[in-house]
Amino acid sequence: MKDTPRYLASFNTRNLSRQLSDLLIIGSGIAGLTMALKCCQKYKVILLTKGELKDTTTWYAQGGVATAMSKEDSPELHYRDTMQAGAGLCDSEAVKVLVNEARDSIENLISLGVDFDRALSGEIKLGREGGHSLSRVLHSGDSTGAEILSTLVANMKSCPGIQVKENVFALDFLTYKNRCVGVLVFDSKEKKLVAYFAKAVILAAGGCGQLYDITTSPLIATGDGVAMAYRAGAEVCDMEFIQFHPTALSDKKSPRFLITEALRGEGAYLRDCANKRFMVGVHPMAELAPRDIVVREIVKAMKRCGEDHVYLDATHIPAEKLRKRFPMIWDRCKEDGYDLSKNLVPVSPAAHYMMGGVKTDVFGRTSLPGLHASGEVTCSGIHGANRLASNSLLEGLVFSKRICDVLKEDFEEMPKEGISGIDVSYDFVGEKKYIDISKCKRVLREAMVSFVGVIRTQDELRMTLNKISDLSSEVLATKFDRVEEFELQNMLIVARLVTQSALMREESRGAHFRSDFPKTDDLKWKKHIILKRDLELPIYLEV
Ligand code: FAD
Ligand code: SIN
Repeated sequence: MKDTPRYLASFNTRNLSRQLSDLLIIGSGIAGLTMALKCCQKYKVILLTKGELKDTTTWYAQGGVATAMSKEDSPELHYRDTMQAGAGLCDSEAVKVLVNEARDSIENLISLGVDFDRALSGEIKLGREGGHSLSRVLHSGDSTGAEILSTLVANMKSCPGIQVKENVFALDFLTYKNRCVGVLVFDSKEKKLVAYFAKAVILAAGGCGQLYDITTSPLIATGDGVAMAYRAGAEVCDMEFIQFHPTALSDKKSPRFLITEALRGEGAYLRDCANKRFMVGVHPMAELAPRDIVVREIVKAMKRCGEDHVYLDATHIPAEKLRKRFPMIWDRCKEDGYDLSKNLVPVSPAAHYMMGGVKTDVFGRTSLPGLHASGEVTCSGIHGANRLASNSLLEGLVFSKRICDVLKEDFEEMPKEGISGIDVSYDFVGEKKYIDISKCKRVLREAMVSFVGVIRTQDELRMTLNKISDLSSEVLATKFDRVEEFELQNMLIVARLVTQSALMREESRGAHFRSDFPKTDDLKWKKHIILKRDLELPIYLEV
């Protein structure tokens, strides 16, 4: 879409203050911090994040990290479950890398101090989640992400090679001679632009759950990474596949509080308004079927019942076990008036994870030289059309480590001017004017939930695309100087990518369900949809 501006601001780096490093990492989630810790002994690293260090999706991860650890399990079984959940669109090579390198990554985390739950014998306890044929999820109670993130942060202190910048907003990639050479940054405290040049840039900016009014994702998840990469000309892939989590607590709060799939892994049931376990008979794994299948059955049950939720039933599990294994969920349910061991808890689906993203190879290289990416922001090929539960933290661990191994060859391709001799400038065409940002976000997020959510149709997708275009024509032509305004611009760009791809894919597969094309069509659609800013038409890539 050529009407997308290349940069969101006017600037000339000659007039900006300049920061130089070997490596510039955007994001302080599991992908960014793993990368920083792996590379900090060899390189000068700057890591920047738009909030405080722990303002990440990683912090909220509950269920855990999937890895074949038990005697009955193997990387081959983990591979099989991942490929099956991905509904024909996983990249076999990438999945093999993920499952084969998982155990090393876990051992590294343990050596850094991550405290996974263990039995009295000392053996790591493994949880069960949807789509897994056996128990393979390592966890720290129901706060696995917080345990991992705080351990990674604590370890950064031993690495003086890392400079951390909090509350700075990455606005756009700086490109020069068709290579990414740094990032244009908006310092929200000082209200000024700063040019960060680096020999290599790593994008680890997470997902886009905030495009949806009903989501488990925290406020930082506004799709900035995908929007920046798209503006800079990188390939973006499979954006139609947005995963909804089946069981978010059904209150009116935003973001919605997640109730981990691991609770169903411990035996909790899903019931409809007639108290029926509606997943039984639908799939051999019943409540633990892959997420996309459970979510669609929940939507059907809600419709049947005329309610905006179904029920999670853990009342047959002993109270003491629930309280010990899921302390955060226990407390939160209590706050809302539910005793997990006595009451059914209302739950409903919420946007949770972006399977698509910036296209990368198995070393995290994007199609834009100089730019690597890791974590949820990527389309690395491991999730296909539907991510297997708890494969996402693992993705950040495995692929960030691999990127570090290939950076040296990237440094050698830097233009001879070097990072201190390059300048970039741009004139943004647009005016400063008042726009009601909250209203625009609300309109967008409600449309995305209603029409680009779990069940989609051509007419509704077209209508939403028109709405996004109308909003974009004004918002993307306005000169802004506040983070929430830039975030809205990014959200509109990413919403358009999601909606456009969903409209193109005339079949149902994994998390993408078209009621007007309810069947999977391997003949026409066993392929990826790749979008690029300077191309009017998509690229279709056969699997
Ligand atoms: P994040 O952790 O989201 O980090 C992104 C970073 O980029 C943040 O620091 C953010 O501030 C920064 N950033 C973004 N934009 C900018 C910008 N413009 N400028 C500067 N900085 C920026 N997955 C599992 O595998 N297991 C689980 O148990 C699990 N539970 C989950 C529970 C919840 C409630 C949710 C929402 C997701 C869960 N997931 C889980 C998914 C998983 O947590 C995420 O996919 C993963 O943590 C993403 O890590 P990341 O490092 O890629 O991104
Ligand atoms: C959960 O704990 O249910 C979330 C796990 C995930 O998204 O991988």
